[in-house]
Amino acid sequence: MVRFWHVLVALASFELLWVAGSLLKSRRVNRDKAQGSSHLIAAGNVNQFKPGEVKGIPQGGFYLVCQEDGSFLALSKTCTHLGCTVPWNKEKQQFTCPCHGSTFDSTGLVMAAPATRPLDYYPLKIENGEIWVDIAVPVKRDAFASFQIGRS
Ligand code: FES
Repeated sequence: MVRFWHVLVALASFELLWVAGSLLKSRRVNRDKAQGSSHLIAAGNVNQFKPGEVKGIPQGGFYLVCQEDGSFLALSKTCTHLGCTVPWNKEKQQFTCPCHGSTFDSTGLVMAAPATRPLDYYPLKIENGEIWVDIAVPVKRDAFASFQIGRS
């Protein structure tokens, strides 16, 4: 019986820490939005990518996807279900979450649940062939739209 209470207290503590962490994170995001801050990361030159290529950008914590038409999309690595990191599966040409099996296509759209929302994206711009990604705040979305991509 004592062991049961220890497990219960541990679970309650974990949940409390998780809620507190979520609140602190959302306050930071709201502050950044209010300040209109940006944090640009140089993600490479357009000539370094082939159409259809997906490359992780470690210093920014996102994937840069070179679309078949040569445009670019910066996708968050965080699953929209419960926050696991989603690796790119080159053979299957999809992101597959190792935690509960959600899959996303190369534009971040949900192919298989339990995730119900596409991967967040980061705004990007291309200047003189250099790709700049603003990682200040990942942008939530319900669908893929052309304004989410960047072209040179
Ligand atoms: S965290 Fe990715 S499917 Fe649950």
